[in-house]
Amino acid sequence: MAGKSVPERLSWAVETLDLVPSDRVLEIGCGRGVAAVLVLDRLKEGSFTAIDRSDKAVEAAIRRNSENVAARKASFLVAALENAEFADDSFDKIFSVNVNLFWARSSKRELTALRRWLAPGGSLHLFWEPPGAGQAREIAARVVPFMEEHGFKTTTLTGQTSTSAGLICILARLF
Ligand SMILES: C[S@@+](CC[C@H](N)C(=O)[O-])C[C@H]1O[C@@H](n2cnc3c(N)ncnc32)[C@H](O)[C@@H]1O
Repeated sequence: MAGKSVPERLSWAVETLDLVPSDRVLEIGCGRGVAAVLVLDRLKEGSFTAIDRSDKAVEAAIRRNSENVAARKASFLVAALENAEFADDSFDKIFSVNVNLFWARSSKRELTALRRWLAPGGSLHLFWEPPGAGQAREIAARVVPFMEEHGFKTTTLTGQTSTSAGLICILARLF
């Protein structure tokens, strides 16, 4: 994919995931599958799974990643997080970019599911590119205490793009 067509937030997010080739990765709210391309480039024996509640988004993501789907290295499912089901310990890294998780509303059920799906030593990465620096602080102020109350240890990372107020990642690990 030409570098130009990849939004800076997605390049930063995938760099920040610090992937290793064997990682089993879940993306929530994959949209049209642009981050998926970047992740799949970094995986060898690992695998990539994505969910999005929009069937149009999933169709586009499958088209964009058709070779990896055919090779069964990637799968894209139409599902909302609140209805998704995966086996325990299925993923080493779970991430989302610009998805309204855990800040407009705090769902213990969804966080419990994510916790269950993460393998020991796994990590959860929630990325946002908010319209202003104030919103980044607001997101962190809501999401961090919620995650910590539910057994995650969090680190808040920030990044820059050439065009926006900045990027934020809440990185959460179990302890
Ligand atoms: C703003 S778009 C971001 C897409 C992509 N991550 C990006 O940064 O370009 C949010 C995407 O998340 C999906 N989404 C929102 N809430 C969701 C949920 N609870 N479960 C699954 N997908 C969700 C939407 O359908 C949409 O495709």
